Amino acid sequence: MPGPGMELIGEEEKKELLEVLEAGYLYRYGGAADRGFKAKVVAFEEEVAKLVGLPYAVAMNAGTSALLVALIGLGVGPGDEVIVPGYTFIASISSIIYARAVPILAEVDRTLNLDPADVERKITPRTKAILCVHMLGNPARLDELKAIADKHKLLLIEDCCQAFGASYKGRAVGSIGDVGAYSFNVYKTITAGEGGMLVTRDEPAYRRFFGLHDQGHSPLRTGVEIGRRAFVGLDFRMTELSAAVLLAQLRKLGTIRERLHRNKQRFKQAIADLAGLEFRELTDPQGECAMLLTVFLPSEEIARKLANDLGTRVVADSGWHYYGNMEQILEKRTPIAEGCPFRCPLYTGPEPKYWKGMLPQTDALVARAINIGIGVSDPGLGAAFGITVRDGFEVVGARADQFRQAAQKYL
Ligand SMILES: Cc1ncc(COP(=O)(O)O)c(C=O)c1O
Repeated sequence: MPGPGMELIGEEEKKELLEVLEAGYLYRYGGAADRGFKAKVVAFEEEVAKLVGLPYAVAMNAGTSALLVALIGLGVGPGDEVIVPGYTFIASISSIIYARAVPILAEVDRTLNLDPADVERKITPRTKAILCVHMLGNPARLDELKAIADKHKLLLIEDCCQAFGASYKGRAVGSIGDVGAYSFNVYKTITAGEGGMLVTRDEPAYRRFFGLHDQGHSPLRTGVEIGRRAFVGLDFRMTELSAAVLLAQLRKLGTIRERLHRNKQRFKQAIADLAGLEFRELTDPQGECAMLLTVFLPSEEIARKLANDLGTRVVADSGWHYYGNMEQILEKRTPIAEGCPFRCPLYTGPEPKYWKGMLPQTDALVARAINIGIGVSDPGLGAAFGITVRDGFEVVGARADQFRQAAQKYL
């Protein structure tokens, strides 16, 4: 059970897939003139756009490519700085580097998402965008971040890769900034193994995103448009097979959210009275995905001992999501040693430096945090999702009792 969508793969996904295989068109353009073509990618784009309340969506092969396309499509490039949290998946940072802009790491606060006060401190004349991440399904402080972006005329890019289906004060995550990026990899709310998407309200941005993901072509083209392509693009298209699975998964989003919230509530209630235990601050408890429950222990020492007793690790020791463990960022290991973004004539700032310890507030928080995976697990891959709690009341209840007993030794 990597993610909650994966757990529900069943007859509905098989039926959708079979339809595509039988129709014989596996490519998003299929045969527009052929009535047998199912156009699943277009249908998926339309359904997600409707769900999040925006006019435009572009389906892609991954969340990482969606972020890269978002950045380049909005004009982020050499000489620019992008503020990004130090607690995130590496793709939030690597996409900035591949757009040839400089990532500026900022602190997270008790939400484990960007700390608006540190974002303000990190703004320079070179700042072009704030890339906020809704980590572990929880919306960042979007009101504050949007106000900062507006005040300083910066772009606000929402990395919603871990938060498909979440909302913030009644609006879908991804619909508040200039663009929202989702991932449908195997750990996400809904999945086709891999997949990504961008959503926006801005038509020119949509046209640029579409072209970047499809060799410079305009949206929903019917031919190859020789002589009319606005710029050079790449290929990050989604296949009909992925879209078919995702359409079936999308219909299960309500069930997934309801189950996760119910189980998270049960787990939380069962351990809420433990003195000294704090919960991660949530900006919108009803709107979040409820995929994980994160707890803070009173000290790093207690957190490490408890994590060890429970067969997991504290969040700081997660190989995936903490900047201090990202050696390719800390050592600026770009595949080609010279040039943008770190040694770039267009970049006028001091040479960027990254080191473990550069974000003391983030370091202190993640060192005493333990994740409890209500709807997601990664056995054998590190501690990113912490302790696994499977669906079903008995299992959740038993894991909560086990957590209580282990924690009581130290609290
Ligand atoms: C916060 C965040 N951003 C971006 C990505 C990249 O998504 P993908 O794996 O679909 O490329 C992920 C995936 O785990 C993520 O968690």
